[in-house]
Amino acid sequence: MVYASDQAHSSVPKAAYLAGFGADNLRLLETDDDHALRLDVLEAAIREDVVAGRRPCALVAAVGTTATTALDPLAAMAELAARHGLWLHVDAALAGTAMLCPENRWMWEGVESADSVVLNPHKWMGAGFDLSAYFVRDPEHLVRVMSTDPSYLRTAQDGQVRNLRDWGIPLGRRFRALKLWFLIREYGVEGLQERVRRDLGYAAWLSEQVDAAPGWQRLAPVPLQTVCMRHMPPALENDEPALAAHNLAIADRINLTGRSYVTPAVLKGRQMIRVSFGTQATDQEHVEAVWRELREAAVA
Ligand SMILES: Cc1ncc(COP(=O)(O)O)c(C=O)c1O
Repeated sequence: MVYASDQAHSSVPKAAYLAGFGADNLRLLETDDDHALRLDVLEAAIREDVVAGRRPCALVAAVGTTATTALDPLAAMAELAARHGLWLHVDAALAGTAMLCPENRWMWEGVESADSVVLNPHKWMGAGFDLSAYFVRDPEHLVRVMSTDPSYLRTAQDGQVRNLRDWGIPLGRRFRALKLWFLIREYGVEGLQERVRRDLGYAAWLSEQVDAAPGWQRLAPVPLQTVCMRHMPPALENDEPALAAHNLAIADRINLTGRSYVTPAVLKGRQMIRVSFGTQATDQEHVEAVWRELREAAVA
């Protein structure tokens, strides 16, 4: 049995299916009001499975979910994983970049217990698409499953190098790490940290504006660089379909300007507009402009 929250990225079910678990052996668990995995629900699910003779196997913790950047309670999940012998995977695809800054590392407290961690420097660190960084505690699990040893791949150096071809499915791979190396060389760790702090500041600023604006509703906490909101005119308050159409229309108007690009998504039945910061060229004036344009689009 594989466990994750119902806010886990679609790649989690996809991976579980590809690994042969099947839909019956995947539990996407209910989340709390902040859209993070509920520990009580996880514990109950594990208990129920053990009683029913099913075998708990793996647990995926999201540090920064895709829709709202929610933070699953990783430290407590790590304890549960250790207690039940579960493989603990930490999906920090976006939020991993925030961990460049020591003051953000509370968000993934417990990560030191993970069996595997993924972060995508192409999401927020500034690396060109695509670049996923994948860390495993014990690569032998991968090598055991993935290594093949055809005669045409043998070289005299095999025993002296870490042969990444044995860590994953494809044999031919691009040298993606090189661009990360150059990125770090170009900006320096401090330069990258500065950008993370800048983007967190933008999101905090926008979040405050949304909270203070009548008719606007923030739909999730803002621990990172994404603000989830919707416009709720009093006349539409109890009409979800009309609210959804209204907010999709706002997002369309913004996106058609070509100046900013916002990403609509549905969160637990509610249509929201997501404003996510992360590109190098975004200045405070752009942040103020998108907020102004959102408000204009809402009354257009
Ligand atoms: C939280 C999260 N996990 C995983 C992914 C997928 O990552 P990849 O494109 O490396 O499969 C994404 C976004 O695309 C994501 O937001």
